Amino acid sequence: MNAYDSERMAEALAPAGFELTEAMDDADLVILNTCHIREKAAEKVYSELGRVRLTKEARKAHGRDTMVAVAGCVAQAEGEEIIARAPVVDIVVGPQSLHRLADLVAKASTGKRSVETEFPAQDKFAALPQRATGKRQTSAFVTVQEGCDKFCTFCVVPYTRGAEYSRSPSEIVAEVERLAARGVREVTLLGQNVNAYHGDAAGGGTWGLARLLRRLGEIPSIARLRFTTSHPRDMDDDLIALFGDDEKLMPYLHLPFQAGSDRILGAMNRKHTAEEYEGLIERIRAVRPDLALSTDVIVGFPGETDADFEDTLSLVRRVGFAQAFSFKYSARPGTPAAKLEDQVPEAAKKERLAALQALLEESRHAFDRSVVGRRLPVLFEGKGRKPGQVTGRSPYLQAVHVEGPEALIGHIAEVDIRAAGPNSLTGVMN
Ligand code: 5AD
Ligand code: SF4
Repeated sequence: MNAYDSERMAEALAPAGFELTEAMDDADLVILNTCHIREKAAEKVYSELGRVRLTKEARKAHGRDTMVAVAGCVAQAEGEEIIARAPVVDIVVGPQSLHRLADLVAKASTGKRSVETEFPAQDKFAALPQRATGKRQTSAFVTVQEGCDKFCTFCVVPYTRGAEYSRSPSEIVAEVERLAARGVREVTLLGQNVNAYHGDAAGGGTWGLARLLRRLGEIPSIARLRFTTSHPRDMDDDLIALFGDDEKLMPYLHLPFQAGSDRILGAMNRKHTAEEYEGLIERIRAVRPDLALSTDVIVGFPGETDADFEDTLSLVRRVGFAQAFSFKYSARPGTPAAKLEDQVPEAAKKERLAALQALLEESRHAFDRSVVGRRLPVLFEGKGRKPGQVTGRSPYLQAVHVEGPEALIGHIAEVDIRAAGPNSLTGVMN
C-alpha cells in the first residue's frame, strides 16, 4: 500500500512541476513514506532523517534548498512530535491527507511547517488526480479499502489507519479502466482488511469484494486479478466460490493466521481458532485445489509457551504454505498486548523464529518444486537480469525467468517450467 501511496503522491505533485529522481542529492523535495507496523519504526525514521539532514546541508552549501516531508503511518502516529524532534522536517502528512500534499508543499516553500493528520479517507481518493501519468506498467496496485476494525491486540493499524473505509465500486471501476487503457493487464486490490470491502454502489446497495472482482473481470484487457490482505473472518461464501469459477482471479491467497494455538489466538483477539482457519482453507481448496497459500505468523506473543509454539509449527506442516512472512512479536506502544505481563524473552523468540522460518522455507520450496514439469501461463512484466531474458509471474505469483523477446512484456504466454531455484523458477517457451 505504501508503494501505491508513493505513486499517488508523485502524481499529486506532478502538476506543480515535480518529477521523480533516484538520487537524494538531486531532490528539491524529499518524502519519507513510512510504515508503522515494523519494529522500532519511529526510531528508524528519525535516524533516516539524520541522513536527510546531511544531504540538505550539503545542498545548502551549493545554494540549493531542500524541502523534507514525512508521510505514512509513522507521520500519522507521531504527528507534532516529528516537527518538535526533527527541525529538518517541513511537512508531516498522514496517509489520509495525501491529497493535501501539493498545498502543503506550496505552504512550505513560503517557510511554513505543517502537520496534517486528519482522518476521513472519504475526501482523499476523489481529490487525488486521476491516474494518467507514469511509466508503462503490466501490473498495478489499486487501493479499494483502508483501515481496520479488527483490533488484534498486537497491531497498530486500527490506530494509525483508522476505521474501515471502502471506496465506491464506480470509482474503482473507473480507475481500473484507466489503468487498462494504459496497458495494465493485472490488478491487485489492496486494503489492510481487503475482504471486509463493502462499497456503496451508485444505484443503492452494497458490494462485497467478490462482486467487485467479478465486475473488474468484465474489463476485457484485464487478464489477472489478485487481492491482499485478508482476514479469515471475512472470507465469505461468494469470495470462496469465486476462486472456483472466475478464471481471472489468480489461485493465490494471502491469509494470515498469526498463531496455531487457540489460547494465543484468543489473547491476540483474532476472532478465529486454528480449526476454523484450517476448515476455511479446506473449503477454498475444495473449489481451487491448486491454491497457493501465503500467510503471516508471529512468534513469541506474550504468554506463548513451547507447546503453543509447537501448535504453530504443526499448523504450518498440516496446511502447507507457498509463501509466508514471519515475525518476532514486538510490543507496539498503545496496543493492548504491549501491557501484558509474561513477555517472552528475546532469546526464545529468536530460536522460535529460526525454527519457524526453516519450516516455512521448506514448505515454500516444496510448493515451487511441485510446479516443475508443468506448463504455466506467465504474465511477462520486464527484462530479466541476463541479456535475452524476460521475467514474469506464474498464476501462483512465482517469479519466472525465460529466454525470450522483449515483445512478450505485457503479454501472457505458456511456459514449460524446468527448474526451481531459491527464489524463482526457470522455464522454456515452445
Ligand atoms: N509484532 C510482530 N509482528 C507484527 N505484525 C503486526 N504487528 C506486529 C507486532 N506487534 C505482523 C502481523 C501482520 C503483519 C503485517 O505484521 O503478522 O499480519
Ligand atoms: Fe492489524 Fe490485520 Fe488484525 Fe487489522 S486484522 S488489527 S490490520 S493484524
